[in-house]
Amino acid sequence: MQVNQPIPVITIDGPSGVGKGTTCALVAEQLGWHLLDSGSIYRALALKVMKASIDTKDEALLIETAKSLQLSFTVADDGTTQIKLDGEVVNEQLRSEACGDMASKIAPIPAIRQALFIRQKAFQRHPGLVADGRDMGTVVFKSAPLKVFLTANAEERAKRRHKQLKLKGVDVKIRALLEDIEARDFRDSTRKVAPLVPAADAHVIDTSDLSIKQVLAQIMNLVEQNVKV
Ligand code: DC
Repeated sequence: MQVNQPIPVITIDGPSGVGKGTTCALVAEQLGWHLLDSGSIYRALALKVMKASIDTKDEALLIETAKSLQLSFTVADDGTTQIKLDGEVVNEQLRSEACGDMASKIAPIPAIRQALFIRQKAFQRHPGLVADGRDMGTVVFKSAPLKVFLTANAEERAKRRHKQLKLKGVDVKIRALLEDIEARDFRDSTRKVAPLVPAADAHVIDTSDLSIKQVLAQIMNLVEQNVKV
């Protein structure tokens, strides 16, 4: 293995509900690379905060919790990742709306972002990494050879989320999902630290009218042009 070679990273950032998770998993699978779902680290901290009933105004305690978070990611043979928080498998719990909402509320705190930075960097291993998040290209992996920013209008994202939830048997009104998405977009993109914006050198892909297959094809094309694999 080329241990002295730089480890390539592809960053894929964008707002919630844009299809980043599925897209990133497919890109990582096609390349045989590692995958970082950075949102799950913020969500794990949010889950801990909720479980331990930590007051979100108590910044010192939030920061201490972020630093000492007992979190592990184990990739099984079938490629699925088991996420354990304090020894408990929490994959399902992390996906709840409440968890996403809490994550978005605590994510603006600079010291929290700093505490979670190293955990994200640790995912950069040979042969390469696909990093999914909000600030992968602007902060965490600034020198990545390929940066992608996915967008889609809020209505389309609410529709996609509605379909996903329906498949899981959860019945929520599209309007409520749209309001939630718009509120989270506003919070994520207007925060002072690491706001949700495309990196200056990112390739922006509007996925509103594209299938996952089409998005994947565009990204793999960019990989061919920009990354030595
Ligand atoms: O991608 P997601 O929905 O799992 O992320 C949940 C929240 O975590 C998101 O609203 C903001 C925060 N987050 C962040 O601030 N930076 C990241 N790199 C990933 C997520």
